[in-house]
Amino acid sequence: MLVLGIDTSCDDTAIGVSRDNTVISNIIASQVSHEAFGGVMPEIASREHLMAIDRVLELALEEAKINLEDVNVIAATRGPGLAGSLLVGFTFARALAFALQKLFYAMHHLEGHIQASLASDPNLEPPFLALVVSGGHTHLFDVPKLGQYVLVGATKDDAAGEAFDKVARLLELGFPGGPAISNAAKLGDVRGYPFSVPMQGQKGFDFSYSGIKNAARLAVAARARGEIQASVNDIAASFQRVVIESLVNTTTRAAKHLCRDTIVVSGGVAANQALRERFETVVARESWRVLFPPQGLNTDNGAMIALAGFVRAARGDVPDSFVAGVEPYWALARG
Ligand code: KG4
Ligand code: ZN
Repeated sequence: MLVLGIDTSCDDTAIGVSRDNTVISNIIASQVSHEAFGGVMPEIASREHLMAIDRVLELALEEAKINLEDVNVIAATRGPGLAGSLLVGFTFARALAFALQKLFYAMHHLEGHIQASLASDPNLEPPFLALVVSGGHTHLFDVPKLGQYVLVGATKDDAAGEAFDKVARLLELGFPGGPAISNAAKLGDVRGYPFSVPMQGQKGFDFSYSGIKNAARLAVAARARGEIQASVNDIAASFQRVVIESLVNTTTRAAKHLCRDTIVVSGGVAANQALRERFETVVARESWRVLFPPQGLNTDNGAMIALAGFVRAARGDVPDSFVAGVEPYWALARG
């Protein structure tokens, strides 16, 4: 089964193709015009999607060595995301599917992130615990069976990726902040600044990153006044350490509570090498396993939507209607 997956939920125009549960192409056109604003400008994002999408489709088909007519299923992100951005990819996909009479699936962006791990293990099957950690989400789901997502915990304020982006901005490291902080952290001391681990000692499985963001702001201000010795690299390393601790501690507590021995970690922040290493160390102690999507499938991409579309088609889900609209605030909690 050949599935074309399209995601334009934020600032990347992304189209990928899967043959069954294997990715055969993954093209992402990243928009650079937002850099000057230090964040994504919605109006610019939708205009750039419009300009890029035809060419991205051509490249995705070329890389997969197929023609559009060969595709069996078209899957596109319906939400959540920026309304104007979603509209471009979703209506493009709907029109293609209608014109070519292909099966059409309206996809949830987070289902795409979660199923991206199929590219690391094609036999991945529930039950498992899924942590989606990106610029817009820090959500923990229990996945007891295919297509069932039970929300176990979520951020009470900022997403972890958003905190990376904001702290990178404070440290003048550029945008997006995740890769910049992780590079600076390699040169810093993880104990260089005494931040505390967010939500430590709590009973539930929620996250919170506005406090650590503020603590980093105070550290940067104190440094500017010459009151602390810590370097930018030390602040980055110390910030990254406590964010990772909170993600790993809360997720592993939830895994114990729900008796899950497989953890799937995905979303942009899952690209972070230090996070991967910490998860692997902790999980090895419990004889559990942790899965991450391969590099290239962590941040937003179309291949993950193709994989999630394949899962829906393979289990015989009824295709969605060609008149479905976008859902910018769509919650993923079914079952
Ligand atoms: O999944 P994604 O591409 O978009 C959303 O759906 O949000 O995630 C983007 C986020 C940004 O906040 C970015 O700073 C973060 O993922 N990110 C990272 C790394 N690479 C990207 N965070 C930490 N470490 C990284 N290496
Ligand atoms: Zn995403």
